[in-house]
Amino acid sequence: MTVAVDPVQLMKQEVARVAAARVQSGMIVGLGSGSTAALMIQYVGERLQSGDLKDVTGVPTSFQGTVLAKQYGIPLVTLDDIDHIDLAIDGADEVDPQHNLIKGGGAAHTREKIVDSMANQFIVVVDSSKLVDRLGSTFKVPVEVIPVAVTPVMRLIEKLGGKPELRMAVKKAGPVITDQGNMVVDVKFTAIDDPAEMEKTLNNIPGVLENGIFVGVTDLVLVGEVVDGKPVVREA
Ligand code: A5P
Repeated sequence: MTVAVDPVQLMKQEVARVAAARVQSGMIVGLGSGSTAALMIQYVGERLQSGDLKDVTGVPTSFQGTVLAKQYGIPLVTLDDIDHIDLAIDGADEVDPQHNLIKGGGAAHTREKIVDSMANQFIVVVDSSKLVDRLGSTFKVPVEVIPVAVTPVMRLIEKLGGKPELRMAVKKAGPVITDQGNMVVDVKFTAIDDPAEMEKTLNNIPGVLENGIFVGVTDLVLVGEVVDGKPVVREA
């Protein structure tokens, strides 16, 4: 019997495995969020359990990462406990040719930006569907907003030419609440000509905590692809 394998899942598994193989003993590792990062956390945990890795500590970027790291036996530290991060590995929703990113599909972009920016090396792990010519082509920009400011922030975003939408939860009535207790506004822009400028402009709106545009943070992009039915990983 042939079992149907989802090609996107295959790509995610392979790129997560290749990235996890770059973790070395003794490292402090930023643990990203999302489905690809979740697989990476699993593989790092398995390497620790098999004895292939030793003395690795993780810095989670979300409750998801905290739960998974505990499940797979990765000791955790907080940002209060450390003065550096050796390597951060995280997914992305869009990657442009300059390696700028949109992140925040899992509403974790605020902590992700803190941890990923701190790392001496930040590796992005994506399947090939995430590569775009221009940011904003396929994905809306997530903006984390303090709850009392949601309406004024949405009005100001409309004045900037964006179409804001409050992100609603699944399997919970009402809006998504972030790990910090805030809300997320997803913004569709017709074009983001200057990602660095847009990142700053959005963050300057009073009530905005952080947005999901990451400029100048990425060191390496690993892309999972399926070639001739087999998953392969290349550097973008
Ligand atoms: C979490 O907030 C995001 O930034 C994720 O890293 C991003 O959405 C990618 O997730 P997947 O690996 O699930 O596509």
